[in-house]
Amino acid sequence: MKTPNQDIKPITTRINEKGNIEIGGCDLIELANIYSTPLYVFDEATIRSMTKAYKDAFKKYPKMMMMYAAKAFMTKAICKIMEQEGFGLDLCSGGEIYTAKTSGFDMSKTLFNGNNKSYEDICMAIDSGVGTFSVDNFFELALLDSIAASKNTTVQILLRITPGIECHTHEYIQTGHLDSKFGFDLTQIDSAIELLIDEYKNLKLVGLHAHTGSQIFEKQVYYDEVEVIFKEIRRIKDKYNIILTEVNLGGGLGIKYTEDDKPISVYEIADTIIDSIKINSEKYKIEEPYVFIEPGRSIIGTAGVTLYTAGSSKQVPNGRKYQAVDGGMSDNARPSLYQAKYTVEIANNPLSEEKEQVTIAGKHCESGDILAKDILLPVINEGDIICFYTTGAYGYSMSSNYNRVLKSAAVLVNNGNSDIILNRQTYEQLCESDVIPESIL
Ligand code: LLP
Repeated sequence: MKTPNQDIKPITTRINEKGNIEIGGCDLIELANIYSTPLYVFDEATIRSMTKAYKDAFKKYPKMMMMYAAKAFMTKAICKIMEQEGFGLDLCSGGEIYTAKTSGFDMSKTLFNGNNKSYEDICMAIDSGVGTFSVDNFFELALLDSIAASKNTTVQILLRITPGIECHTHEYIQTGHLDSKFGFDLTQIDSAIELLIDEYKNLKLVGLHAHTGSQIFEKQVYYDEVEVIFKEIRRIKDKYNIILTEVNLGGGLGIKYTEDDKPISVYEIADTIIDSIKINSEKYKIEEPYVFIEPGRSIIGTAGVTLYTAGSSKQVPNGRKYQAVDGGMSDNARPSLYQAKYTVEIANNPLSEEKEQVTIAGKHCESGDILAKDILLPVINEGDIICFYTTGAYGYSMSSNYNRVLKSAAVLVNNGNSDIILNRQTYEQLCESDVIPESIL
């Protein structure tokens, strides 16, 4: 069965009687008029359709728990939706913990990830009631244990491991010792466990955690990841008589940014993971564990689009045509950072046959601030509303105030209704941390 991550557009996208693009029953031109641009628009139906697909696809394996990787896009409204959908949260900073906690999220259903958790972050996580820590390295084991001891508490942990599976979009390679900043190398697990047995009495090890990559199109990666982890669980049981009951497989399922992308469905991933669980629990003779996954991009990516207003344009003599918009690398760093490609339409003129090649440029003082290079679009007029699809994941979450540009607003649309979930930043907020010290006056 197909799932929304396999399409470029949110599931409610259509062209209305006015000839404008509509998402969630809302005319994008009206949204641009009401909320101004740049504007992130999130389709609630697409988000919930993805969370439901994950739940449905994994229902054959009852010991399954879904955690939304908040790094993809997090606001308090998104935390609420995830809570309603029965998802936990994968958090990776003090700011993400704070957002989840203040949204009223049940913190026992959160996991704290990260390769350099600070003393303050760890204290905050323990005080906030974060359910489980994924411990990334030896330094963190010592730090976490000492903080837990000082607070007279025991913390439940997973060990983050580097499973030696590297994924690429169309192929994968296996190496014994992957060069990665994250997690324990497989050869370091035993030392970590021995430290836990001998010294770190305030940490309770319940399982293993791995994450092989992001924007994965290759289901074999998940199959192999389960096998690597189950093999370790068996080995740890044999060597230390410790029974690990939890396995976290990370996130990574890909989405479709352009027609060239062919992501697989949530059902295919789920069937692969469940098959591998069944086969490898038999093979390694371990009881089927609780399995967690942490999808981010595939939950929120397709649901989000960004609207811009077309401004100036420039025809380079005998060269490119540049069309500038009122946002750019500050609201979407992915094109300049990863040469990421997007599908683009003109929201007030999606169907015109009269097309030309154009390059959509951002407004920032940097030549690399290009949002889409050499794409074919209907002729753009100043004031047109330009819609970039699949910007829901890692757009706002990696946004910046470069050039002191304000962070954009986000709205949630559903059934013809639109609600702000992020107010546009104001100039007062932009400057609120600025200090002019006495000494220079
Ligand atoms: N779990 C862990 C431990 C992770 O590091 C990540 C993503 C996820 C889950 C969620 O992965 P997802 O399902 O979203 O692929 N900024 C990049 C993506 C970085 C992903 C980092 N880790 C981008 O814009 O493509």
